Amino acid sequence: MNTFYLTTPIYYVNDKPHIGHAYTTILADVLTRFHRNEGEDVFFLTGLDEHGQKVQQAAEKRNVAPKDHCDEMAPRFIELWDKLHIKNDDFIRTTEKRHVTVVQKILQEVFDNGDIYEDEYEGLYSVSEERFITEKEAESGEFRDIKKIKEKNYFFKMSQYQQPLIDHINNNPGFIQPEHRKNEVLGFLKKPLGDLCISRPKSRLNWGIELPFDSDYVTYVWFDALINYITAVGFDSDESKFNNYWPANYHLIGKDILTTHSVYWPTMLMSAKLPLPQGIFAHGWWLSGESKMSKSLGNVVDPLGLIEEYGVDPVRYYLMREMVLGQDASFTMESFVKRYNSDLANDFGNLLSRVSNLMKKFFDGKIPTEEDDSDEGIAIKEKGIKTIEIMWAQIESMRVNEAIETTLQFVRSVNKYMETMAPWKLAKSDPESAGKVLFTAAEALRLSAVLLAPVMPNRTKVVLDTFNAEETGLEWGGLKGGVALKPHDVLFPRIDIKKLSQSVEPVQKKAEPDNVITFDEFQNVELKTAMVLEAEKVDGADKLLTLQVDIGGEKRQIISGIALHYTPEELVGKMIVVVANLKPATIFGVESHGMLLAASKGKNLTLITIDSDKVASGMRIH
Ligand code: MSP
Repeated sequence: MNTFYLTTPIYYVNDKPHIGHAYTTILADVLTRFHRNEGEDVFFLTGLDEHGQKVQQAAEKRNVAPKDHCDEMAPRFIELWDKLHIKNDDFIRTTEKRHVTVVQKILQEVFDNGDIYEDEYEGLYSVSEERFITEKEAESGEFRDIKKIKEKNYFFKMSQYQQPLIDHINNNPGFIQPEHRKNEVLGFLKKPLGDLCISRPKSRLNWGIELPFDSDYVTYVWFDALINYITAVGFDSDESKFNNYWPANYHLIGKDILTTHSVYWPTMLMSAKLPLPQGIFAHGWWLSGESKMSKSLGNVVDPLGLIEEYGVDPVRYYLMREMVLGQDASFTMESFVKRYNSDLANDFGNLLSRVSNLMKKFFDGKIPTEEDDSDEGIAIKEKGIKTIEIMWAQIESMRVNEAIETTLQFVRSVNKYMETMAPWKLAKSDPESAGKVLFTAAEALRLSAVLLAPVMPNRTKVVLDTFNAEETGLEWGGLKGGVALKPHDVLFPRIDIKKLSQSVEPVQKKAEPDNVITFDEFQNVELKTAMVLEAEKVDGADKLLTLQVDIGGEKRQIISGIALHYTPEELVGKMIVVVANLKPATIFGVESHGMLLAASKGKNLTLITIDSDKVASGMRIH
């Protein structure tokens, strides 16, 4: 029997699950339901990533132990998956004993192979990003909490697998999908690949899996997390299960975690002498309208709010139908309602009410017994058979949105067939033919429900129940005539646009454009005039200057990336504008307390200066 092993990323336990997490998990659920329907031996894995600095810090903030923190957060995900009707076969948490054992086993093997070495490392470390950063990154100003750290660490000889990885990607065209992501990785691999720091000293972080060969260290969180994919299918615990499911058919991931999955993970597996996954599939991101979803913008779509308002199936349908796998997609309530009303209420739902009403009215509430053998009836049958074939091919090649559209086109052609044949008219002149038309339409509807069941497991069940066809499968001819129809509710009640305006609030908290701030928010920024007293270059950083400024009698040090635009000499004596209440940060090992304002475009940059004859330093700018 064919096996199909599919994984989602394991989600950081700290985050409240949002539409991005829900999307990947629903996608995995839909794909695995299709493969199960094809009779394959399926294993669907999801879970949580529970170690690392962010979890430790979050737990400290709440004054609880990290494990207790994880135990409190995990149910949020489990409950959401339950509400979304996710049928996963396993739910892994990286703090589980079974996983810790496997991570240590792999580490030991890689160590014994000579692929892990110890080295003293000195570099810039961003506490917020939880990684060493380059000098260029430090200068970009995008990283905060930067520390210069000198410490002994363990490194994985990733560089050694650069060429074998390039060869593997080239020899296995489906390994990284879609194509443009594969090219991105190959582009990345054109530069020399460095080794990977895989340890964190316990003095800095102790929430992690201890290295089996040095108890003063824990494992870097990504080296730990990626291994979940083999833990769950029985690596080192259940050999036959492992051989059955590994290598996975696909790791589904978002585009932001492509490098970890297609560079770190395969090289780790090569070193451990294990087969590589067959495919890594990176999908795009859901945007809120045109902008990135982010907590700080307050535009993150909450999946729970949507489900409560519109039901699970429409949410699953929309997410699967709207995103072209591999590209970004835009979430808007307008497109959600449009999709719902046109595809679900008008096309699919309406076909059910039409067919069942006519059977009630003209056939005593029973399903007629014979199929329509007219040209039009045969055309529907043929289209149905073709739809099964095309749809499955689209699912197999991960074109989920197209597969759904293929089925909806079939549903639309059945609606057209009903209009052409007009069984409500025929019923009076030729009841036998009317019965045949209704039978064929009902069979087409049953088949569409089976085809769409992986996407909408609940509402399609209503269709199948109505025709007593719960147990029927994916072939033309499953419908049994002569049986009484069961009553059903309206499959998808239309959403009226007035209701939409009320529901937008809880789902998308922010109706204004993303870049709007309130007056109070602006007032929180303390802009003040400051006199530059001294300026000098920062050793070893071409772009940085250290300025000593006076803000109304208070002396401050500010590091600024303007060295390519101003010499230290020309700055002294200038009255500039600074953000006085910015949280101090360490940049390039030097404390910076404030930020100065400048206008810039491309390579041009000009400081905002003020006529020092007219104003003193330390004046507030409003
Ligand atoms: N813990 C790591 C994964 C380790 S896998 C061995 C992680 N977790 S995460 O919770 O931050 O993100 C999980 C997934 O959510 C990523 O695949 C990411 O791409 C996805 N998404 C986060 N925001 C998203 C959208 N707005 N849209 C779609 N997916 C997005 O990374």
